[in-house]
Amino acid sequence: MNLTLRIWRQAGPDTPGSMTTYQVGGISPDMSFLEMLDTLNEELILRGDAPVAFDHDCREGICGACGMVINGRAHGPERTTTCQLHMRHFEDGDTIDVEPWRAAAFPVVKDLVVDRSAFDRIIGAGGYITAPTGSAPDAHATPVPKEAADTAFEHAECIGCGACVAACPNGSAMLFTSAKVVHLNVLPQGGPERASRVMNMVEAMDAEGFGGCTNTGECATACPKGIPLPSIAAMNREYLRSSLRGGR
Ligand code: FES
Repeated sequence: MNLTLRIWRQAGPDTPGSMTTYQVGGISPDMSFLEMLDTLNEELILRGDAPVAFDHDCREGICGACGMVINGRAHGPERTTTCQLHMRHFEDGDTIDVEPWRAAAFPVVKDLVVDRSAFDRIIGAGGYITAPTGSAPDAHATPVPKEAADTAFEHAECIGCGACVAACPNGSAMLFTSAKVVHLNVLPQGGPERASRVMNMVEAMDAEGFGGCTNTGECATACPKGIPLPSIAAMNREYLRSSLRGGR
């Protein structure tokens, strides 16, 4: 495949960026999107140009490090992570636009790399339990209702990639935050901090400058892990419940 790439290049956080056009050839349909960018970067390095900076780690769809807007969609045309997107979903001769996540709370570090540490600070505000857990307990040591276990597992799938924020016209982090709140709040182990968790995490989310939710649903559509939109309503109920009980 031969492709035309229009990629956002930005030398640093305080430097203006712009779209730069590159031609890349010899791309196999079996390559991942990141391998395609690797191919481009090898060519750029060989001719003495700066390679395109982009985030990645596992390349297996589990760490959440990779993330870019491809042809206007977070992670591109398939509902998966960028590292799991394969070039077979594009046509020979295509022109592909590649941009970083666009959100005020995710400032650009360089090219396609953004600073997602705002998510870490939200997690630090309550995305944990303080009960000593030790090593893996026997499965029946703490009875967990099947429905609660399934809900917790579904929400634990969030990898914090930030696609929900990038897809939302408000730059809202409600889906991410609700995944983390619901994951722990439905479990018995999360019970002691149930009220403070939701209050602290929502306050941290607001302090980071993420936008509010207006129910457009773009976040859940873009989420590569299928975190459901009703998670946000569940978090709002947790927030209301906590508020009515004094907030902590
Ligand atoms: S590099 Fe880990 S999810 Fe893509």
